[in-house]
Amino acid sequence: MAKILVTDDEQIMRELVVDTVTLLGHQCTSYRDPLAALDQIEEDDPDLVISDFKMPGMNGLEFLKQIQKRRPGQSFLMMTAFGTIEMAVEAIKCGADNFIEKPFQPEILEHQVRLVLESQRMRKENKSLRQQLSGKNFVGQGSVFKKLKHFVEEVAPTNATVLITGESGVGKEVLARAVHFQSNRAGGPFVKVNCAAMPESLIESELFGHEKGSFTGAIKTRKGKFEQAHFGTLLLDEVGEMPLSAQSKLLRVLQEREVVRVGADEEIKVDVRVICTTNRDLRKEVEAGRFREDLFYRLSVVPVQISSLRERREDIPGLVLYFIDKINGDNGYAVHGIEPEALSMLERYNWPGNIRQLENAMERAMVFCKSGVIGVDNFELPGMTPLKASGSSEGEVVLHAGMTVAQAEQALILKTLGECKGNRTRASEMLDISIRTLRNKLHEYGYADGKDSPE
Ligand SMILES: Nc1ncnc2c1ncn2[C@@H]1O[C@H](COP(=O)(O)OP(=O)(O)OP(=O)(O)O)[C@@H](O)[C@H]1O
Ligand SMILES: [Mg+2]
Repeated sequence: MAKILVTDDEQIMRELVVDTVTLLGHQCTSYRDPLAALDQIEEDDPDLVISDFKMPGMNGLEFLKQIQKRRPGQSFLMMTAFGTIEMAVEAIKCGADNFIEKPFQPEILEHQVRLVLESQRMRKENKSLRQQLSGKNFVGQGSVFKKLKHFVEEVAPTNATVLITGESGVGKEVLARAVHFQSNRAGGPFVKVNCAAMPESLIESELFGHEKGSFTGAIKTRKGKFEQAHFGTLLLDEVGEMPLSAQSKLLRVLQEREVVRVGADEEIKVDVRVICTTNRDLRKEVEAGRFREDLFYRLSVVPVQISSLRERREDIPGLVLYFIDKINGDNGYAVHGIEPEALSMLERYNWPGNIRQLENAMERAMVFCKSGVIGVDNFELPGMTPLKASGSSEGEVVLHAGMTVAQAEQALILKTLGECKGNRTRASEMLDISIRTLRNKLHEYGYADGKDSPE
């Protein structure tokens, strides 16, 4: 379903267009006045604009130019009863996708709408493929990232099964795609299966396919994901969630390199490279009897762990600039930068949701950024304390230029308190300050006595 904005001063025509596209299953908003449409266009955020040419106040060409200024690349269909070749050429030069002469049969409009939306879909797909092939969507500068990039270069050309571990949102899928697109399978399919989202009863048929009538609901023969990924790469996402019964079948397929569809006897050869991800500790799952040990060894031929974003803060500036570009491109925004204080805040934040959370935060900030430069106020980061203290690596004290002395002091105090498991007496001794000073400082940071305190 696409969102379509229609402008035409003539009511009958407007209704005809709206009815036609609504019947195609699209969501429609319509305006009599192009100025009113311009006012609403950001909010409506249409995938396609269909506009009349001759309208009071502003003609269709001017309307198109105004739209292109605000939303470069906006898909646009122009309709007119006064069509001349010159006008059509002019409209297309200004960025219209096509030109429809009035009066027209609804089928003509339907056809044009389908064409535009289809070409839009292809453009998006091509762009994302180009990015994946060029590796430009795999961003980072720091030493951890460099190692990951090197890992991809080494491993991609082989057929080795890769096991990617890391917290949620660290870029496990991005890494899997990088391996695929830098391998000689790049021209083949990349197929993803989410093992966590599938009910146990369906997982086998999903992975290996089924024959018609092999179980209730199997109304036709279907290829499984392994067959779909033939000559390409299969990503088994959240492999740690796979039920034991499916695990033994998976092991067999990995060893034999052939699948048997549910309800069939015949084996089908598959040439598939398997990549798995998990945010569970598979070794522990093996110990707990929830994951087969033999499968674990089979899958972890080449294991790779992606560190959390807070362990590789050097990547944040590059990712921020990448997301500004990406979000501008996807939404037609024209944000051109970020204030140094805002960037420094992002570098200090803990990012429990890792790169996905950073991307979402950037998207939100860009919605609220009116000046073209993102500021501190455009962000809303849950629990934003410059540096959280805890016994874990979350509490790392990161000092960098741009930080104030007060921030550094706060970081050190919280970190020490975390290491002392919240014991204020010990922390104050280590810091060589009085317990009273420590209490006052904590109060200042918003930690009420006993409440929300890192103790
Ligand atoms: N190195 C990177 N460069 C650019 N974008 C990245 C990078 N790593 C991750 N992202 C972006 O962050 C988001 C999360 O990445 P991805 O889906 O790969 O994470 P994940 O580890 O698979 O998460 P989950 O465990 O929740 O499935 C995606 O939108 C992705 O595009
Ligand atoms: Mg994932």
